[in-house]
Amino acid sequence: MDKQTAKEQIDYLRKQIELHNEAYYKNSAPTISDFDFDMLLEELIRLENDFPEYFDLNSPSQRIGGAITKEFQQVIHKYPMLSLGNTYSFEELTAFDERVKKAIGNDFEYVCELKFDGLSVGLTYIHGKLFHAVTRGDGLLGDDVTMNARTIKSIPLVLKGSSYPDEFEIRGEIVLPHSSFERINQEREEIGELPFANPRNAASGTMKMQDSTIVAKRRLDCYLYHLLGEKLPFSTHFESLKAAKDWGFQISDFKAKCKSINEVFEFINDIGERRDSLGFDIDGIVVKVNSFQQQEQLGFTAKSPRWAIAYKFKAERVCTKLLSISFQVGRTGAITPVANLEPVALAGTTVKRASLHNADQIGRLDIREGDMVFVEKGGEIIPKIVDVDTSFRSLFSEPLQYITHCPECNTLLIRKDGEAIHYCPNENGCPPQIKGKLEHFISRKAMNIDSLGEGKIELLFDKGLVKDISDIYELKYESLLGLEKVFVDTESGKTRTVRFQEKTVENILNGINESRKVPFEKVLFALGVRFVGETVAKKLAFHFKNIDALSCADYDLLIECEEIGEVIANSVIDYFNNSQNIEMLLKLRKANLQFSVVEDHNLIKSNKLKEFSFVVSGVFSHFSRDQIKQLIVENSGKVVSAVSSKTNFLLAGENMGPEKRSKAEKLKVSIISEEDFLKMIY
Ligand code: IVH
Repeated sequence: MDKQTAKEQIDYLRKQIELHNEAYYKNSAPTISDFDFDMLLEELIRLENDFPEYFDLNSPSQRIGGAITKEFQQVIHKYPMLSLGNTYSFEELTAFDERVKKAIGNDFEYVCELKFDGLSVGLTYIHGKLFHAVTRGDGLLGDDVTMNARTIKSIPLVLKGSSYPDEFEIRGEIVLPHSSFERINQEREEIGELPFANPRNAASGTMKMQDSTIVAKRRLDCYLYHLLGEKLPFSTHFESLKAAKDWGFQISDFKAKCKSINEVFEFINDIGERRDSLGFDIDGIVVKVNSFQQQEQLGFTAKSPRWAIAYKFKAERVCTKLLSISFQVGRTGAITPVANLEPVALAGTTVKRASLHNADQIGRLDIREGDMVFVEKGGEIIPKIVDVDTSFRSLFSEPLQYITHCPECNTLLIRKDGEAIHYCPNENGCPPQIKGKLEHFISRKAMNIDSLGEGKIELLFDKGLVKDISDIYELKYESLLGLEKVFVDTESGKTRTVRFQEKTVENILNGINESRKVPFEKVLFALGVRFVGETVAKKLAFHFKNIDALSCADYDLLIECEEIGEVIANSVIDYFNNSQNIEMLLKLRKANLQFSVVEDHNLIKSNKLKEFSFVVSGVFSHFSRDQIKQLIVENSGKVVSAVSSKTNFLLAGENMGPEKRSKAEKLKVSIISEEDFLKMIY
């Protein structure tokens, strides 16, 4: 095929496929069979491979994903993403209506819309093409999730017509339809993963995934509701939505112009009745003043517009039977009681389980197996049991005995003073806790062994090949090759076996090998010491420089390190007092993991402080304590933690400990200020 014909064919296929996409996703009226659709897509992919010069990021072939986002870039919102004031009753809505009337008189109308319960996103289009998609974040700064957004078929990659502004943003909500939510959860349960609590969590978890191929398979959807830009050619919100629909955006038909607050109430009641049949979650209705000019007149408070308000639906409640209570052990050993319920429809999804929080909650409700219970689902929360109907209770029912031993490893549970949660203390011997530790160890921010994802490490654990993290470094080619995992395919019900082939095994071993280069601060984080997160691990690593110094440090030395308080210090001490941990660390050391920080000699900028040692204490005005320490090292000085006769300077900030000062005075160590210090190096 010549280039010209190929280009024409590619253009034709792209247009056809997007039209079919639109018919399927936006109008729910497929115009082609799945098989024929796949044939068109395959043909397009084949031509694009043969003629790579016609690659286009906006081609529908790109919707199947493939892009991996290593780290989501942060983007400043051109217009801050505000939230809305909430109301829960018609009285509060009437008060809102009165405030509006007071500001702009009686001549206005409202637009009522669904309040979509998903993940808010801002889509920017430049010259009719999707430029980027950014999450809300903190309202000022969000994550760039463009590559994942591209896989959502209801987000247009190229706009229709030509009447759109050169540059504009449109905001909306990414939601997970109930059908997809139930399918995903079923799949997760079948492979032993915890189900998502609700569609909103699932949608937001999915949008933060690094592999867009998985995002594409999740079948997310996107509804838009707010157009933003300079000099938009519309005078009302309603008109702008109509235009956005013509450009190809999915705008819900469930909206209405209302001339009075009574009409708003009617809309709310009407949607309240249809809520369960929408196919996705909403948590209320948004009421907006329609005219842009009147919106401007009303303006904003610090957090939200005065021209709009959200009416939130009350939590829905149903009654069902409590079949049994099971106890789950989390990765940290925390025990969560879970109610297994007779399946019941609630706010559009089927609820089979509900959280019971802890022993206190069970005691308070005096909840018993076999009881009829009331289950409630609020906007954001996992369904919970709010009450018990004791009139159905059998004479023979008995109060529930909370477990005393771990359901996974039978260790006696502990409950610390003042805490509501029971814990299994068997950190190194309780299967879910070990699995949690292993998963944490290989995770991206820790040892980054992604060739050994969650599923594979679980398999190795189940087969007894990996019992703790040090075993990872003893894995052999022969023991990995041919390992099998059996999955059940949810759609067909058939079983599927995944077998470790040569390539997989090679990748796993390469990934493990590469992890030997991971720097000490990440290794320390990867060990999973309780309360030692990424930042704390960095502080400890750079303060103590190596694992030996850290493992010998006592309480006083530990709390000298910046940001280390009582809880972390005790947790570190406990960790190194545990002989199993020490044994494991020895094995990891033999496996050549990095156990000391690598001083970057390129960092050295001068020799001005050569041979001088400093103790740094207190708070400084120009630099943080860590920055000061870095300056000392960069100028070839040495930082020590305790004042001794060998110390040259005590660099004293504000609120420095009085013992340090008196010790320095006694030993005649020079006490200098931040300014004195800066004079030494600048
Ligand atoms: S309008 C300036 N319309 O709810 C405010 N928001 O609680 C613009 N939401 O931040 C927002 N459905 O994330 C608007 N039809 C709708 C909405 C909606 C859901 C979300 C949105 C907003 C939050 C406020």
